[in-house]
Amino acid sequence: MRLSGKSALVTGAASGFGAAIAETFAREGAAVTILDLNGDGAAEMANRFGGASVKGDVTRAADIESAVKTARDHGGSLDIIVNNAGWTHRNKPMLDVTEEEYERLYDINVRSIFHMTRACVPVMREQGGGVILNIGSTAGIRPRPGLTWYNSTKGAVNLLSKSMAVELAPDRIRVNCVAPVIGATALLESFMGVPDTPENRAKFVATIPLGRMSEPQDIANACLYLASDEAEFITGTVFEVDGGRTV
Ligand SMILES: NC(=O)c1ccc[n+]([C@@H]2O[C@H](COP(=O)([O-])OP(=O)(O)OC[C@H]3O[C@@H](n4cnc5c(N)ncnc54)[C@H](O)[C@@H]3O)[C@@H](O)[C@H]2O)c1
Repeated sequence: MRLSGKSALVTGAASGFGAAIAETFAREGAAVTILDLNGDGAAEMANRFGGASVKGDVTRAADIESAVKTARDHGGSLDIIVNNAGWTHRNKPMLDVTEEEYERLYDINVRSIFHMTRACVPVMREQGGGVILNIGSTAGIRPRPGLTWYNSTKGAVNLLSKSMAVELAPDRIRVNCVAPVIGATALLESFMGVPDTPENRAKFVATIPLGRMSEPQDIANACLYLASDEAEFITGTVFEVDGGRTV
């Protein structure tokens, strides 16, 4: 088992990529805590593998602090953080995105990492190290039209991961970013901006050299490697899991 003895906190793990990450980490021996706005979904997921769950909002510092405390109580330490919770406005012209949507985007996708960093770094420093994974996106590398403000949040996540990596390296805290290409989660229709039909999916698949969308397990496998000690010399990467989309 590649994560035995480790304690991990995964945000937004009631569904989608986060759920696969949490289950994979648990299967590999980690004690996993889930933080999600969807409290019932988080509890249901955590029950599958004997994990802990917290119903909370990643945009609120108090909820993040509470999840960090739960993860430490549940796992006895705080070794791995996965900042995965995210949201997008529907694909539409940039001038049609409201200020409310813009604020929600930056709160969920970027402010959340600010809060989590402030909560987890002092703990990891005291422990002598740790791993932080941020779920960015190919949207921040090779942007699609209609998602300008979402794309910009992921550009921030991709870059802040590198900056955190260099600043936290002396503390033996590794920071990496995983950048998925479009995948069939609850956010798919918002990303596409058109109904989820086989014809509409085919248009997006045509832009991915390996010829399919990402699967949650693809993202979980990348996170597993980066979180494990096998990646002990890897920090500051933006690891595209994208079937060649950004080449
Ligand atoms: N699906 C894709 O195509 C795709 C591609 C690239 C990157 N991503 C990123 O992957 C991450 C996971 O998204 P997903 O596609 O699995 O979507 P999803 O909607 O299935 O999962 C997101 C989870 O985050 C939770 N969440 C949302 N806002 C929250 C908040 N304020 N506080 C706590 N939890 C909150 C939701 O309840 C949900 O369980 C996001 O950061 C997303 O931007 C997704």
